Amino acid sequence: MSERPVFHYHEDRFFAESVSLTAIAEQFGTPCYVYSRAAITAAYQEFEQAFADRAHLICYAVKANSNLAILNLLACLGCGFDIVSGGELHRVLKAGGDPQKIVFSGVGKTREEMRIALNAHVLCFNVESEMELFALNDVAGEMGKIAPVSVRINPDVDANTHPYISTGLKENKFGIPAADAERIYQLTKNLPNVHPVGLDCHIGSQLTELSPFIEATRKIRDLQVRLQSLDIAIEHIDLGGGLGIRYDAESPPSRQDYVEALCSEMASTSARLIIEPGRSVVGDAGILLTRVQYLKHLPHRNFAIVDAAMNDLLRPALYQAYHAIQPVVKRKGDTLSYQVVGPVCETGDFLGNERELVLAPNELLAVMSSGAYGMSMSSNYNSRPRAAEVLVDGDSVSLIRARESIDELYALENIIA
Ligand code: LLP
Repeated sequence: MSERPVFHYHEDRFFAESVSLTAIAEQFGTPCYVYSRAAITAAYQEFEQAFADRAHLICYAVKANSNLAILNLLACLGCGFDIVSGGELHRVLKAGGDPQKIVFSGVGKTREEMRIALNAHVLCFNVESEMELFALNDVAGEMGKIAPVSVRINPDVDANTHPYISTGLKENKFGIPAADAERIYQLTKNLPNVHPVGLDCHIGSQLTELSPFIEATRKIRDLQVRLQSLDIAIEHIDLGGGLGIRYDAESPPSRQDYVEALCSEMASTSARLIIEPGRSVVGDAGILLTRVQYLKHLPHRNFAIVDAAMNDLLRPALYQAYHAIQPVVKRKGDTLSYQVVGPVCETGDFLGNERELVLAPNELLAVMSSGAYGMSMSSNYNSRPRAAEVLVDGDSVSLIRARESIDELYALENIIA
């Protein structure tokens, strides 16, 4: 990436790469997600380069942002994909992703999803329970195929993140306990239509320290050694995703330090390493552009009512997540402290609290670090059409998802006589 951050001010005006956000708002309207091609490319390449000559595969977690243009960009860079549904599989294939670079995660894969993935020849199923293993063995048998399997191990490691996005503790629904691993691998070896190829874990999201990753990696490596003694050879080790980004004052490890730490813990095995980063590929590469509708100055609080809401960006409402909010044009004057809220009829509908801003009606704001789990978690709550999405590349802007229309909101509904 160039020295200049992709989102930056030039003479008090905020830009995405070489395009002014004011121009984007005028052309595409608001609310609008704006992504930077350079930022996504740079993030992916940083991961890629950190692996150096270690056998590896980066499987971008599609759930973070599943827009076809973004998947296509990553596929063209050689990236693999971590999917959790038939819908995500179809998206990846449509975007030109290589099936042999797809890992299929998730606790509740349906038989139909298993069938589609077997037909597509995905690299591996990350199996999360014994019952799922039996179901996969059945489905593969019906199709005359052998399903490649990793068992997702729950290493019981505290990821030290928000409880809703922590997944590697024994009380979480994910994976199977490490104590059952050898038995499940023996079972995998003995069942006729599944074949163990890998080991998998994922401990949570938005991790800002290396130590939980290292702890989990050690447990997985120990397990791999135990499996070897049972004559179960592991071709790849999937360490999941989870590397955090800086939303506020966090200081997460760099992509390079993270990958180097994983590689060093795995130095004694030649198994291919897989990682499944989502947020750290796209999080910083996107902003949500929104316009101030009204200002409401009350004795106890000031509200800035904007045209984006919790249906567009759920993270603040759901996790009390912090996203910085920047003016698109820096104004001179005294700041006021605002709660930045959307038009949805919920008190939890806010994008930011106590933000010091100089505002006027019609002002544009950029909600930062919204590239991951923004659009992909959006909804039509309050019958709000979903936002447009654009991708900036240097001085050009492409619409990669049109703003939804009102007709589309009820296209699938019927009035019955
Ligand atoms: N692999 C698996 C199996 C996962 O479940 C996840 C995320 C990832 C990889 C990617 O994790 P990342 O690198 O993005 O941290 N909606 C929440 C995040 C939920 C993450 C769910 N799983 C948020 O907005 O913070």
